[in-house]
Amino acid sequence: CGIVGYTGTAGAAAILTSGLSKLEYRGYDSAGVALERPDGSGLEVVRRVGKVAMMGQALAAAGEIDQTGAAVPGCATCGIGHTRWATHGRPTEENAHPHTSCDGRIAIVHNGIIENFAELREELVARGHVFKSETDTEVLAHLLEEAYYGCDGKPGSHDLVSALRQACECLVGAYGVAAVCEDEPGVIAVARKDSPIVIGCCEQGSYVASDAIAIMDATRDVVVLEDGVFARLTPQGATFTNAAGEAVEPPVTHIDWSADAAEKGGYPDFMLKEIYEQPRVVRDTLAGRLAGGALAIDELGLTLEELNLIDRVYVIACGTSYHAGLVAKNLIEGWARIPCEVEAASEFRYRNPIITTSTLVVAVSQSGETADTLAAIRDARIKGAKVFGITNVVGSPVARESDGVIYTKANKEVAVASTKSFIGQVVSLTLLAMLLGQVKGRLSQAQVRLLFRELGDTVQQIQRILDQQRPAIHDAALACKDASSALFVGRGMGAAISYEGALKLKEVSYLHAEAYAAGEMKHGPIALIEPGFPVIAVATKSPTYDKTVSNLKECEARGASLIVVATEGDKDICAIADHVIYVPAVRDAFSPITATVPLQLLAREVALLRGCDVDQPRNLAKSVTVE
Ligand code: G6P
Repeated sequence: CGIVGYTGTAGAAAILTSGLSKLEYRGYDSAGVALERPDGSGLEVVRRVGKVAMMGQALAAAGEIDQTGAAVPGCATCGIGHTRWATHGRPTEENAHPHTSCDGRIAIVHNGIIENFAELREELVARGHVFKSETDTEVLAHLLEEAYYGCDGKPGSHDLVSALRQACECLVGAYGVAAVCEDEPGVIAVARKDSPIVIGCCEQGSYVASDAIAIMDATRDVVVLEDGVFARLTPQGATFTNAAGEAVEPPVTHIDWSADAAEKGGYPDFMLKEIYEQPRVVRDTLAGRLAGGALAIDELGLTLEELNLIDRVYVIACGTSYHAGLVAKNLIEGWARIPCEVEAASEFRYRNPIITTSTLVVAVSQSGETADTLAAIRDARIKGAKVFGITNVVGSPVARESDGVIYTKANKEVAVASTKSFIGQVVSLTLLAMLLGQVKGRLSQAQVRLLFRELGDTVQQIQRILDQQRPAIHDAALACKDASSALFVGRGMGAAISYEGALKLKEVSYLHAEAYAAGEMKHGPIALIEPGFPVIAVATKSPTYDKTVSNLKECEARGASLIVVATEGDKDICAIADHVIYVPAVRDAFSPITATVPLQLLAREVALLRGCDVDQPRNLAKSVTVE
């Protein structure tokens, strides 16, 4: 999603359209703006499903810009704009931002997820508010309206920033938000929590955006807004206040990146940017999933009774998504004791799998449009199975053709090799496994709550790996870069992670890699090992740790160069490993969420050392819509 806002002396629609088009690379499905009509007759909201260019055409028809996108005399000079990547609610015009208060006098744009929106919405409806969309965002427009104009006999603040401060106090979740109000012309109020916002001012006016690239043409001196700081933008500049309403003066940062680097958020490539987004993906995928102490996955489309009848699960997927399925198998069988098979969609559809009406098919697909996965869904439904989709793209074919769907909240993934989507899929599948465990009476509510809390802890744990392990990963990459082949090994969850690690390395570095369950090494692959042969092992603390270490000793004895992903504090592993990459201690069930991260980074480092393009590997496509 992207936010752009402007107030000044120039044409707002032209600035917002051009700013939003600079954010197009982030992915979106609809776009919209709210402009303050210069004649003082209120706000004009223009929204379109589809491209920014389509919204531009509508703005041209409204006389705000000309056919080339330039401002026309007498146009609005204050407004806010947004590109939306659907999370709550389908990609429709009603769900597109900006959202407005009941009487349309206030408009807001929002990035992030308001976790408690369902409760807030209920309260607001009870107080007479009428909702026009299915989004979480709209509650904020209504809260703002109450705070600004007053409600239930309480007087309003009639000050947009104070009203926004008051409204934000009610929110649980993440938000970057910009608001305008027709009774405060020329003012934009801005707030943020866990969602990026930058503000820049120049002679022509004041700008706000969720990403500096949208406003870099106007100014490269920006304030990177911090959580809890509120901004008031006027044509003359911006002022800032804290949560208590006291004036603050945040530092100004000069952006010296090129536009290309800015698109990547300052990272050298999309793959690294997306790997670093993973803590946020986990947080967003979990947001709002525990309500009143119980798991809330309402989109599944099945009652608890229907879920309880399920006696067989197939996870069908391709590529990286298939590996998320391998993780799910362990969890579903472990927690719910339901037999679970993981199958490549391309195989499943041409077999004659055993399917009854109590079979659940879980189709996992980042893009939601992989041809084989879709064909397998159709086949499974004809045979009577219930189908859940797990996808990153709202309204995608997988979402549309499944009985229920869980969205992974990774946002658009640009790099062809999937990283953050995998983590989103694993977290979503973990939630599904927990739900099945609970429904089958194998997990108590208290156990579910504990698991949920520990899942949430992986946000910080991934961050710690990103913060601390890059040097060790770089050294390990140097040890692999000239190899012609590599083996990835692990047991249990470690094996599932190894398959994904090997795929990532193959995809981006073109180094042949194969993954094996560590216990199977001695039945064949060990013949490959000669001095210096890279063996990458996942040997985190788990019930099979000792067995894995024995297998690694067999490799060490034959001269393998051992790179081991191990649990923090495991000093013993240093006796056999040439390189150790440490990950925080987590329960085995959650090790894929943490231990995959160093393998993604390792694949990227090896690829860069071998001179490969990590974002667009040869021969691969991001989405494969042919068989
Ligand atoms: C392609 C991509 C992979 C992806 C696979 C499945 O091969 O290059 O990164 O894992 O398709 O895609 P899906 O969108 O169904 O998850």
